[in-house]
Amino acid sequence: MTIEHNISLKPYNTFGLDVVAKHYASIDSVESLKDTLKSKPEDIFILGGGSNMLLTKDIDALVLHINLKGISIVSEDETHVIVKANAGENWHDFVLWCLQQNYGGIENLSLIPGNVGTAPMQNIGAYGVELKDVFQSCEALNIDTLKERTFNNEDCNFGYRESIFKHELKGKYIITSVTFRLTKTNHTLHTSYGAITSELENLNITQPTIQDISKAVINIRQSKLPDPNDIGNSGSFFKNPVIDKSHFEELKTMFPEIPSYVVSETQIKVPAGWLIEKAGFKGKRFGKYGVHSKQALVLVNYGGADGKDILNLARLIQKTILRIFNIKIETEVNIV
Ligand code: EPU
Repeated sequence: MTIEHNISLKPYNTFGLDVVAKHYASIDSVESLKDTLKSKPEDIFILGGGSNMLLTKDIDALVLHINLKGISIVSEDETHVIVKANAGENWHDFVLWCLQQNYGGIENLSLIPGNVGTAPMQNIGAYGVELKDVFQSCEALNIDTLKERTFNNEDCNFGYRESIFKHELKGKYIITSVTFRLTKTNHTLHTSYGAITSELENLNITQPTIQDISKAVINIRQSKLPDPNDIGNSGSFFKNPVIDKSHFEELKTMFPEIPSYVVSETQIKVPAGWLIEKAGFKGKRFGKYGVHSKQALVLVNYGGADGKDILNLARLIQKTILRIFNIKIETEVNIV
């Protein structure tokens, strides 16, 4: 393993932000990861797919880029398969591999940017499915003790874009692999999400396969979400806020068309994209950065933007949403 110095992280973050890592190492085995950590570098920064972070400054640390590759079958019976993927596998490539084998469960999560190892951190989710629905366990290395630990589903405290790795164990573990429980037959299809139903109709598909669902999801995502290879972005920049029912009722009198999802008897989730659009930000461009024109939840770097400017825009959006709707929206993306 070689340590390089003063390396630009532009190719390694989907926002395409040009910040410099003081030191950088690409990690391709758990052994070399342990060896590097044994040498007790002063400060380390763990980089996975770089798809959920806004880099606002240079990284004055050793960046460990987790590039552990490999997919293997742990066990299988007639109906299910247990598949293990190493952390550095690209998420969408893994989804496509599963579809090729006709393994069901993650087709709704097609085209999500990022790597397998970071998927559990924020319990990635889309179109009615979350990672936790198929997550069996993950292996992770304790940065201080260098002991490996297996976390099962309950250990991870998964919630909406949440897990133990973002809270109690933040910065304590490096996920090295994730194991999934997928179906081989009798796949459970999740087609109730509105956009999927209509996309399947567009495609004239009445009896969808998991491959059809993936195709529908890919079409929907491509029509709304910018491809990071063309326009830098980190997907949804904010989480959808959950508010009290009474607060929602008040808003509904002012904005009768406000979309909502019931979370519990007393709580309602409101799409942040709608709030941001209503506040007038959708499609607004500020030189090198702005708010995506087709999905207001996504902030974009048109090229050459500074992470600090994007952060300032995010703060302005948060303040405006608080002023108009009295709702605090939280960032989904990690601010570095
Ligand atoms: N909406 C607007 N204007 C917009 C965007 C959305 O009015 O600019 C409205 C839509 O019309 C719809 C509602 O908001 O009524 C929901 O929109 P959408 O279906 O696009 O989903 P979302 O809540 O904005 C979430 C996830 C996405 C995921 C989609 C589909 C979060 C923070 N985001 O977005 O995840 O792909 O649902 O399941 O939960 C991501 O996390 O990076 C991500 C892209």
